[in-house]
Parts: sequence; structure tokens; C-alpha cells
Amino acid sequence: MGIDQVRWGVVATGNISTQFTNDLAELDDAVATAVASRSLDSADRFADEHDIEHRYDDHRQLIESGTVDVLYIGTPHPQHYAIARAALQAGIAVLCEKPVTLTARQAKDLVAVAHEHDTLFAEAMWMRTNPVVQAMFADLAKGVIGEPMEALADFGFHKPQLPARLLDPALGGGALMDGGIYPMTFVHMALGRPDEVKAVGSLNDDGVDLNVAMAWRYDSGAVAGLTCGLRSQNPWTASVSGPEGSLLLPNRFHHPDYYVRSTASGQERVDVPTHGLGYHYEAAEVMRALRAGQIECPALPHAATIEILELLDETRRQIGVTYPGDDEYLGG
Ligand SMILES: NC(=O)c1ccc[n+]([C@@H]2O[C@H](COP(=O)([O-])OP(=O)(O)OC[C@H]3O[C@@H](n4cnc5c(N)ncnc54)[C@H](OP(=O)(O)O)[C@@H]3O)[C@@H](O)[C@H]2O)c1
Repeated sequence: MGIDQVRWGVVATGNISTQFTNDLAELDDAVATAVASRSLDSADRFADEHDIEHRYDDHRQLIESGTVDVLYIGTPHPQHYAIARAALQAGIAVLCEKPVTLTARQAKDLVAVAHEHDTLFAEAMWMRTNPVVQAMFADLAKGVIGEPMEALADFGFHKPQLPARLLDPALGGGALMDGGIYPMTFVHMALGRPDEVKAVGSLNDDGVDLNVAMAWRYDSGAVAGLTCGLRSQNPWTASVSGPEGSLLLPNRFHHPDYYVRSTASGQERVDVPTHGLGYHYEAAEVMRALRAGQIECPALPHAATIEILELLDETRRQIGVTYPGDDEYLGG
């Protein structure tokens, strides 16, 4: 695809859309050309802030406008599926926030629709494209710690005033879907898909999970411990270890500044230069794939998106978290 500047459309004007669009400005070959919000006032405010030409109060108008090559979706999770599906059906590439859907069945459907319409689809799991995370996993692949046998990953934070969507079942609330997906992605990258999963969680009166602990076991003999929560200031770190040592991503492991390599030769802090907030790395990967005419972005693979949603389905089943629409979309 001979695109000089890739035209991005942004759906939603909340927290993450703002951060993503700020970072898009780091890329000379990207331009935000359109935004859709549920209200024209918000769309106008966002468009003025980010110098965006086209504004809409309905994502369907944006999709039909012909003003974008790729759509970034930054709504709460339950809204992702319908918006992504509509865009893919219109032949517009999609980079959709994590978790890309509420269930694996919906994610499989989106991948099928992407194939049917020969259109790129990717989950915005930005951690995968972070240069520090990539460097740490390159070390792991080189075998610096030997065969990885254990992984520990934790994503927990507490704010006196949590954003309302995190506690609202109708908006896909809960620690697992919002934060737990990061430890799950880290361990899946380190050890692959587990052969056994056990999970416990504490739910509030609305059935929203406030913290969750998971244990994963592998037939290879490897094990992993994963936690996530909304009620404590956790270490927020991730590590993988083997007989020769360990690799550790520090606090806020999903977008770190460095990693720590501990081997028989000692402990070393490895700094990897990064710039911006880190969202432009995923955008750049999507644009590379788009220009190569790919349906799947190699750095954000469909199979991993689906496997992790299957693990989220199973974890939710074990801890008893349900969302509206589960009857229709869980299973299959
Ligand atoms: N990659 C990351 O680092 C990261 C970080 C945070 C969140 N996320 C993901 O991004 C998504 C959005 O999170 P956020 O923190 O940006 O949330 P947020 O600040 O609440 O923003 C969500 C936006 O979605 C739009 N929206 C559409 N339907 C909505 C509804 N029924 N209720 C509320 N808002 C609705 C609203 O924009 P309009 O008013 O313009 O329609 C709202 O501002 C989630 O899926 C989350 O998991 C990713």
C-alpha cells in the first residue's frame, strides 16, 4: 500500500485516546484526521486540542466518511466489538484497545471478519511493542537464563477515586480485564499457553473483581504466579527465571525504562532508550503491517489475542465475574 502519511481516526475522547493521540504526533508518517465521540462538543474539544480536521458525534459517520485508513478504538471494553466489526466490514484497518473484546468468541469473530474483508486488525497491547520489553525477551530467547521455569507478574494499583468504569459491570469493570491482562500477556510471552489455570478473586457487591490471584502450570514443569488488583499499591513488576538466572521488568513493567538481568556474572541494569509515552510504537507496527498489505500485525498476533481472551474467559468463570452479553458470546 503506497501511503505516505497514514490517516488515523480516533473513536472516543477519554484518557487513553488522549495519550495515544499525543503519541501519534511522534510519527512523521502518521496524521490524526478524524475523531468520533458520543457528543459533538467532546469531538470538537478533542479535535481542537490535537489539530484534527474531521469531527463526528457517531463512530458510524466516521467509518463512512472516507477520511481515515485506520481506526484507533479507545472506548470501554464492551463497546470495542461492535465498533471494530463495523470498521472492518467497511474495509478500514483497526487498532483496538485491550482487551479487544469481552470474550474469546468475539475476538475470533473479529479475526474472521478481518480475513473476510482483507483488512488489518490488531489489539493495542502496547507492552508487546515496547523496546525495553522486546530487548528483555530477546535476551530470554538467547538463553541467558536457560530454560524459563518460573514467572511472576503483578499489576495492582489503588487510587482514592477510581475511574467509574473500573467498578461498573456494564462497562466491563474489574481488575482482571483492565490490569490482569498485562501479567497474563507477560507470562504468555515468557512461557506460552499454560496447561492448567487456577484463579481466586475478591468481588464487590456488584460482582466486580477487586483483586485476583492466578496460578498457571505447564506440563514442562514450569509454573507462574499472576496477580492484579484495584485496592493496593503493588510492586507492579514482572520477572521470568530459569536455572541460569532471571530477567526482571521493574515497576510499571508494561512500559519500563530498563530491565534487570541477573546471572552468574552478576546483576546488571540494562537501559534501552525510548521516547514518548510508548503508544507510538504500536502505531508504527500497525502502519508497517498496513503498508505491507498484512491483515495481522506480526508484533500484535491474533493467536495470542485469542488465547489470552480464552484464559480471561476461564479465569472469569472460576472467580464468578459475568458481564451483560456473556450468554450470547461466552463459549464457542
Ligand atoms: N493501553 C493502555 O495503556 C490503556 C490504558 C488505559 C485504558 N486502556 C483501555 O482503553 C479503554 C478505555 O479506557 P480509558 O481509561 O480511556 O477510559 P475513559 O477515560 O473512561 O474513556 C473512555 C471513553 O470512551 C467513550 N465511551 C463510549 N461509550 C462509552 C460509555 N458507554 N461509557 C463511557 N464512555 C464511553 C467516551 O468518550 P466519548 O465521550 O468521546 O464518546 C469515554 O471518554 C479500555 O478498554 C481500557 O482497557 C488502555
